[in-house]
Amino acid sequence: MADKLTLSVIKADIGGCVGHSGVHPRLLDTARQALAESDLLVDFHVAHVGDDINLIMTHRRGVDCPEIHHLAWNTFLRCTEVARELKLYGAGQDLLSDAFSGNVKGMGPGVAEMEFEERKSEPVIVFMADKTEPGAWNLPLYKMFADPFNTIGLVIDPKMHQGFRFEVYDMIENKKVVFSLPEEMYDLLVFIGAPGRYAIRAVYSKATGEMAAVSSTQRLNLMAGRYVGKDDPVCIVRCQNGLPAVGEALEPFTNPHLVAGWMRGSHTGPLMPVSVANAVPTRFDGPPRVVALGFQLANGKLVGPQDFFADVAFDRARQTANEIADYLRRLGPFEPHRLPLEDMEYTTMPEVMSRLRHRFIKVGAETQAEVAAAREELGAK
Ligand code: F6R
Ligand code: MG
Ligand code: MG
Repeated sequence: MADKLTLSVIKADIGGCVGHSGVHPRLLDTARQALAESDLLVDFHVAHVGDDINLIMTHRRGVDCPEIHHLAWNTFLRCTEVARELKLYGAGQDLLSDAFSGNVKGMGPGVAEMEFEERKSEPVIVFMADKTEPGAWNLPLYKMFADPFNTIGLVIDPKMHQGFRFEVYDMIENKKVVFSLPEEMYDLLVFIGAPGRYAIRAVYSKATGEMAAVSSTQRLNLMAGRYVGKDDPVCIVRCQNGLPAVGEALEPFTNPHLVAGWMRGSHTGPLMPVSVANAVPTRFDGPPRVVALGFQLANGKLVGPQDFFADVAFDRARQTANEIADYLRRLGPFEPHRLPLEDMEYTTMPEVMSRLRHRFIKVGAETQAEVAAAREELGAK
């Protein structure tokens, strides 16, 4: 519908400075220039967290619009040219294919988009994280939209009291399912408690049927068939007037929950809420960071941003995250700091195992003859 507004957040890592820690200012300028030259957008804001560039765009062309996706793709291509010139680290790493075919989904960049009728006043928050995965939003989205200990509106606001619907993606089997909360809370939790596989894709108000939140669920490593970079996620949350208040949407981040990612995409660490200025993961390439930019939409114009986690009220959360980081780092290469074998994005296991296979013998093989037989059974020479 022509008068509806679309908010599209499309992100990619197209080169880090230095290493995988940050984005060079020239890339941000290039992205701003590229978006400013387009007449497709109502407004835009270019942001970054860690080594990811986030294009926050408003327009009237709906979700999955080929022209908008093409604009984002070309913007990232232009940034890649600069990244190559500066020899930035991993230049162009999230642009997986040379041929763009109408939609950036499945091609590397992360996407969260929603189309809606702009309300009389339309406060939105764009959450952006680095060094983690889309399932990292499961816990905060659950708290915002389903936990009365976080969101008092669920209890005392008549517009929220019915609850919300949660759309959950199975990112391995590429299926989706919808749960109605609060009735199906326990069923939902069985799935979203496993954020490496199940991610909350969207949340809908039961009172109005409107989409209240949407996240990016691209699993880059699976899409590419090999590891090419973290699928650092973004999430849009609409606030107020029957939806979580801004403060209810921010509150879950006061308890830095553990997420998968961090160093080499192979560790568990606390998700630290930070300002844009502090969104540069350094210690052990982390800890994972989350930034929250608030905007008021005015006829599609992005009024803002408000850099929410710059607030001193999140100092204690950062301190807690640092304490958790200290504790986990002392575990070194041991689980649960290091992720389980099947979740690591870097591993030497196949190579090490093939080299040592012949040294493994069956437990309980005691006599020489049994040891020899066990070795033979394991294919040892
Ligand atoms: C994690 C991340 C970094 C890199 C690490 C090694 O998402 O981006 O922790 O995995 O710096 O990077 P390479 O293998 O590129 O040297
Ligand atoms: Mg990177
Ligand atoms: Mg990143």
